Amino acid sequence: MPFGPASANVILSGESAAFASSRSCGTADSKSKDLSVANYDSAEKGCWSAEARHVEDPVWVSRSRARTRCLHHYAKYIVSLFLRLLKFSLCHSLLSSGLFLHRLHQLPDSLPPDSALRFPMAKRTAAQPALALFPPNASIEELQKEAAHCKACDLWKNATQTVFGEGASAKPKVIFVGEQPGDQEDIEGKPFVGPAGKLLDSALVEAGIDRKKVYVTNAVKHFKWEPRGKRRIHKKPNAIEIAACRPWLDAEIAAIRPNVIVCLGATAAQSLLGRDFRVTLHRGEFLKSDLAPHVMATVHPSSILRAPDDATRHEEMKRFIADLKKVAHHV
Ligand code: URA
Repeated sequence: MPFGPASANVILSGESAAFASSRSCGTADSKSKDLSVANYDSAEKGCWSAEARHVEDPVWVSRSRARTRCLHHYAKYIVSLFLRLLKFSLCHSLLSSGLFLHRLHQLPDSLPPDSALRFPMAKRTAAQPALALFPPNASIEELQKEAAHCKACDLWKNATQTVFGEGASAKPKVIFVGEQPGDQEDIEGKPFVGPAGKLLDSALVEAGIDRKKVYVTNAVKHFKWEPRGKRRIHKKPNAIEIAACRPWLDAEIAAIRPNVIVCLGATAAQSLLGRDFRVTLHRGEFLKSDLAPHVMATVHPSSILRAPDDATRHEEMKRFIADLKKVAHHV
């Protein structure tokens, strides 16, 4: 029996029928209609479920046609979902390649060839011509000249200058690697000349090591800081900055070929020995590494300066000197 608005198209099929309302459902696309199936109540003939009765301007169709339409709409919905996903992943890859290009422009003009292989950005084609320009057996002086223009990360923007390593003019046998230059090092352009440097100097003397016979450098060559009033407060370099600077450290190691590398603190140790390395667990131990015949990590001198009281500072200084004594006979 026909049911519904006079203008609606009604087709009954047995005891049930279906309707398609003209409401927009706003799911897959704004034009799709909300398709529902309403049951014709056989007990109360001519009475349709409340849902059917409250739909404005229904278009009545047979149940099988409604099912076909439902399937059609689901298919459209799935296709549109798939297209959205495709659009999203396209945008994402375009965006990340844009960021990548942006970072390539920040690469130093030239990078040391061996170590650059560990520098993921350096493997990309745009960096290759610059790599070819770099002298393969660069001396410390040549490296220092190149590193003065380094823009491999953003730290150069707020630093006065690149603070490269320095040391014995004759081939040093031991390299000490700190974290990054501090305020005073940034101004003077030399590593370990501030308060931490003074502490390192006196520990070296106590351990019987002549600083003039060793090479001292940092894992990161630019001072990272944040302002506090008129002061520039040291800020720890992050993993990207450490990785960006690693080629210079590798190049220094390649140029010097030291017998011993001493990592001062977690940043240097994690740069050279991996992010899982813990100074607290392995301080003072000689570790297996292909960087040098002997590699050791100990605390950073500034951690001793930060000791909470004199007694702790004294104790920490003793332990630091004991670690340094282990390398004294290699110098
Ligand atoms: N701290 C470092 O790690 N390096 C310096 O050169 C000075 C302070």
